[in-house]
Amino acid sequence: MHGEHRYDLLVVGSANADLVIGVERRPRAGETVLGSDLATHPGGKGANQAVAAARLGARTALLARVGDDAHGRLLLDAQRAAGVEVGGVLVGGAPTGVALITVDPSGDNSIVVSPGANARLSPEDVRASAGLLAAARVVSLQLEIPLDTVAETVRAVGPETRVVLNPSPPAPLPDDVLAACDPLVVNEHEARYLLDGHPAGAGDDPGAWAAALLERGPRSVVVTLGAAGALLADGDGPAVHVPGIEVAAVDTTGAGDAFTAALAWRLGVGDGLEAAVRLATRVAAAAVTRAGAQESYPAAGEALPGGARQEP
Ligand code: RIB
Repeated sequence: MHGEHRYDLLVVGSANADLVIGVERRPRAGETVLGSDLATHPGGKGANQAVAAARLGARTALLARVGDDAHGRLLLDAQRAAGVEVGGVLVGGAPTGVALITVDPSGDNSIVVSPGANARLSPEDVRASAGLLAAARVVSLQLEIPLDTVAETVRAVGPETRVVLNPSPPAPLPDDVLAACDPLVVNEHEARYLLDGHPAGAGDDPGAWAAALLERGPRSVVVTLGAAGALLADGDGPAVHVPGIEVAAVDTTGAGDAFTAALAWRLGVGDGLEAAVRLATRVAAAAVTRAGAQESYPAAGEALPGGARQEP
């Protein structure tokens, strides 16, 4: 794990332009509501993770696909500004992905994604990036790119490289993908989706979800619980709960991406799972106190919620 890797983290994933409107409440089916002025931000779960990790000081690269358009340039500029290596970002094939996001006064969001160029990031693109994959301590994936591309990535990484997967938005996962995850990072929706048909999925006990998910094959599991923190399990003793950190939430968009990025980075540099989850919880807490996704991420050395004595 600590050999000569050029990158602490390679993110293989999506890049979207986030079109964000603040609303008093999110509309029901068939309803129209008025909202704020439109704001356009760089986003996408993959691009968000890359920016979050680089801001924290991780040597980070991104393998993604954007369109040859203004949104693509916005995304590339944001990656470069954060210090992410963008040699692996492919351009063209379709318009840049777009996410339509509404945020209510509690900070909760609803998101619809048009994948665009993300859907064209292919297994061939992954095979052509073998050098990038070999250069990373940790590869982090999400599911806004084709599942075949995720599966190809998992098959292409060497035994020295750790795989972290946040299956969002959730989809059925092949056994070899599940078996590579260390950890599989899920929120409540994703846990319930993956446990559909399993008795644990019908219950309300995150410890039971984690145990049942571990039975599906991942080496470790982290269940994020929003303001309540996170639960981690690696089959070595009982699941461990890391409490959440109380903050005034402004916008939760991208907080999960910041969590996973911080977690993946710290695992790659040698932290244990519990220590990495504790740091990730504080990074995510910082992210919800500010608007937007990438704009909300804390920088290296910035004081994080939860007390100075736990500074990384
Ligand atoms: O996780 C938040 C992200 O989800 C947003 O930035 C949006 O682009 C969607 O991918």
